[in-house]
Amino acid sequence: MPLAYSSPPIVCTGGPLSAIDADLLIIPWFEDDGPGAAAGVDGATGGEIARALSAREFQAKTYELFLATVNDSSWRARRVALIGGGSGERGSALIRRLATTAGLAARQRRVGRVAFAVRGAGDPLELAQAAAEGLTLAEFHPGKYKTADPAPAPPPVWTVVMIDAEDRLLSEGCGAVARGRILGECSNMARELANEPGNALTPREFANRTAALASEVGVEVEILDERQIEALGMGLLLGVARGSAEPPRLIVFRYNPPGAPEKPLLGLVGKGITFDTGGISIKPAEKMEQMKDDMAGGAAVACAMRAIALLKAPMRVLGVVPTTENMPGGRAIKPGDVLKSAAGKTVEVINTDAEGRLILGDGLWYARKLGATHLVDVATLTGAVVVALGKITSGLFGAPEAWVDQVRRAADRAGDRAWPMPLFDEYRDQIKSDIADMMNTGGRAAGSITAAMFLKEFADGLPWVHMDIAGTAWADEAKPYLPKGPSGVAVRTLAALAFEKLDVK
Ligand code: BES
Ligand code: MN
Ligand code: ZN
Repeated sequence: MPLAYSSPPIVCTGGPLSAIDADLLIIPWFEDDGPGAAAGVDGATGGEIARALSAREFQAKTYELFLATVNDSSWRARRVALIGGGSGERGSALIRRLATTAGLAARQRRVGRVAFAVRGAGDPLELAQAAAEGLTLAEFHPGKYKTADPAPAPPPVWTVVMIDAEDRLLSEGCGAVARGRILGECSNMARELANEPGNALTPREFANRTAALASEVGVEVEILDERQIEALGMGLLLGVARGSAEPPRLIVFRYNPPGAPEKPLLGLVGKGITFDTGGISIKPAEKMEQMKDDMAGGAAVACAMRAIALLKAPMRVLGVVPTTENMPGGRAIKPGDVLKSAAGKTVEVINTDAEGRLILGDGLWYARKLGATHLVDVATLTGAVVVALGKITSGLFGAPEAWVDQVRRAADRAGDRAWPMPLFDEYRDQIKSDIADMMNTGGRAAGSITAAMFLKEFADGLPWVHMDIAGTAWADEAKPYLPKGPSGVAVRTLAALAFEKLDVK
């Protein structure tokens, strides 16, 4: 079977810049760079860069672009593009975004061969990987349902340049570029899934597609149907699925590299609501169409599993994705209903729109049952986290603090902005039920925290982190480095965790 997604590798090379053969050579340029930064470029453009800098035509503000023709025949590149890097930090997070911004600009101009020269501060391998990720993220194309649009031009052939790198560094750098390519591609796959309309991506279809993309690279995938889900006693997942004509699924991914120790077993759990109407507690019509991306957490888990296998992570990893629609059918759960979870705990459903925590409760239980020693769940869980952190930052919740901090640092390096939120015991009072072990909502106050407190009951003391991506999974407004639409958040963070030392207990 041909690879579902096979794209050419990113070429990787050292300098000097004059030897780079490309139609467009992109070079990050910082505000305090003089015309002589990046040796020879100014001369090769006949002094265009010095001129533009002194005329303030190009100021190197972040994401500002300046194109100049190369007229030095000893140079092989036809044109150069300076991409402004501003005056702040120049780490991998910035380089990734500069690469995406410049990559999108190059695609728009239908450039065939694009090279990106890595300039920045910090570990050169991390920078090279980030550049490859960024260029790959620029390949994402959301237009497949537009029949009137011409087929998109194939993406450019990309090259990452490690300027003047010696052989050793260059060969390691090329490894980093290849890793970045994989991480970028897996992020794009998650974006593609989140972009799919609910009628195309039903729970069964979601299961089939994620099973294909993971099993293709050697991840073992098992899809449990509604009978098997019932046999496991997953009353929360089944409860949410009751309102829908589409049956639920439980997707289980297992990555077991030969020779890896039994423990640790990293358990990734993702919310897979393929469409969230709210159920009987139905949502307003305005913006409801957006709820097709309520499976972005599940997509992140599936696509991270693919990346983990392709990158040959050293540890065992388990992925669990409960998936269903949340619909208001005649058999749907109603406010006041009591459901029994697979863990045995009972839940009074106050609001059927708080369905994510229900299916994740059973999902976390199952990851535990299958032997996970460290849990991370990812979910578009609450509107409240958007109020707290906006569309920029994902909320992190969990215990112990050391595990939350480890996930936070992994997210930081992966370019997924995330920040810890408190989970003090006192918040537990807000989900106390008169009739059952707990309620599925805790009122307006601290809505993302009480949702996490609910999940905590199912982590049952294991090191566990919950990442609320309700604000970050989808961009409502285009940024230079992120077009409107699905972001692919959390894929790279989750994949990075499979390379960490998991010694938190
Ligand atoms: N999928 C939504 C959360 C969401 C909201 C994601 C906005 C992306 C953007 C979730 O299932 C939900 O409906 N949450 C409710 C919970 C409430 C009923 C306690 C919410 O946040 O309003
Ligand atoms: Mn909901
Ligand atoms: Zn939801």
